[in-house]
Order: sequence, then structure tokens, then C-alpha cells
Amino acid sequence: MNNQPIGIFDSGVGGLTIWQHINEVLPKESTIYIADSINAPYGEKSTAEIKALSILSTERLLELGAKIIVVACNTATTNSIKHLRANFKVPFVGIEPATKPAAINTKTGKIGILATKGTLASELFLNTSKQFRGSVEIFETIGTGLVQIVESGRFSEATPLLKDYLTRMIDAGVDNIVLGCTHYPFLKDVMKEIVPSSITIIDSGQPIAQRTKNLINEYQIHAYEANQPEHQILTSGNLETLSAIISRFHNVKFHLGKF
Ligand code: DGL
Repeated sequence: MNNQPIGIFDSGVGGLTIWQHINEVLPKESTIYIADSINAPYGEKSTAEIKALSILSTERLLELGAKIIVVACNTATTNSIKHLRANFKVPFVGIEPATKPAAINTKTGKIGILATKGTLASELFLNTSKQFRGSVEIFETIGTGLVQIVESGRFSEATPLLKDYLTRMIDAGVDNIVLGCTHYPFLKDVMKEIVPSSITIIDSGQPIAQRTKNLINEYQIHAYEANQPEHQILTSGNLETLSAIISRFHNVKFHLGKF
């Protein structure tokens, strides 16, 4: 038993789409979330830069007492999780595009993956996707500009970009589209206006939350039943923009601070 918080980090607010599922599955757990918004998008940085930024967030979360760390960013995971696991003793949960569920689900044999340049170019993604390339066709699209729009909180501005990115995949005949960036689920409502209902949109929030729960059980570090959970968000970006985005999470009191 351990009332210390779950540490979560992302290049910005995207990982809050993962936080939401974690909070549903583990309602007694306190959380500390780092939104490194000033450095977003990570997807356009080099592997060395992404690694260095991931180390900084990890160190800060450990200083603040995190008992487990969820890397709620596909770009940070695919570029740095190996390094983090090798250098820090705490258990890590990482997230990478859900290629496998899409490959299992597809009837057309064609799947689309929308992710950042950094994720699609990473060794981890290349290795995972290689396992499925023989049996399904994978259409990769870089979601240039989408992270910045989500960070600004003006989600409807994503419509023209999403029309372009999603139509390319739809025209190619995909029946499953993987959201390979944790910022993108914020844009699901906009996407549903573009994507026909016959196409499944897959994001990894639920399975990542379940994985976090399983690891907490395995390490026997779950919070006491009587714990009064607290939720903190530290941002390197603008506190007002963050407040506007988290106002979507009704009934949750976040303590906000600077990273
Ligand atoms: N949320 C991050 C991800 O899942 C966004 C990366 C970025 O900042 O470019 O990939």
C-alpha cells in the first residue's frame, strides 16, 4: 500500500486524455501530471532532445514522490522509454500507436496511423509495425500542426487539417484509424464529422489505464481505500490556457502550478 502519487508526463495537455482513463480505473490514486507545453511539439525534435526532456520530467516526478510513471506521450515513449527504464528504478508505463488492435480488427486489410513525425520515425514504431506489414497495409500520416492547435485550446481550428489527413486514409480504403498521439483524442468530435461511422477510430487511453492498474497491483503499491486523492498539474506553459482546457474535466479539482 502506498498513497504516493502516480506521475504522468506529456509534451503538453495531450496526456490528460490518458489521465482521464487512469482516474476512472484508479479513483483512489493521487496524480501529478507534468505538461511540458513550452517544449511542445516534441514530435518535431530530435531523439536526443526528446530523451533529454523526458529525463527532466521523470526526475521532477521522482522528486515529487511518484511511485510509478506513465509516459503519456507516444513521441516520448517511442524515443526514450528504453533509456528511462534502464536508468530509473521506478516502474514505467509507455504508450505507442495501437497498431496491433487495428491490425486484428481490420476487414479491408488496410489501417491508418495518425501520429507525430517523431513517433513514425522512431525505431520502436518501425519494429512494432514491421510485425504487421506482411498481413496488413499501413497508411501513416503525420499530424503536422494538430498538437499546436490542441495546446491552444481552439479545437475547431483543426477541421481543415483533419479533412486533409483523414481523407487521404479514407480514400486509401482503411477501416481502422489509430490515433497515435495523446493530443488527438481531444479532436475526436471534429474527426467524427469527417470519418464515416463504418471506420473505427482507436485510441489507447483505456488499455494504458488498465496496464497502469495491473502494474500497481503487481508492485503492491496501490493507495489505501481511505485515501483522499489529490490531483496536481505542473505546466511549463501558460496557466490560463491550461485552465480553459481542464475546465472540460467537470467535477475534478486540480491544483495547478509551474513546472
Ligand atoms: N502527446 C504527444 C504524443 O502522444 C504529442 C507529441 C508532440 O508534442 O509532438 O505523441
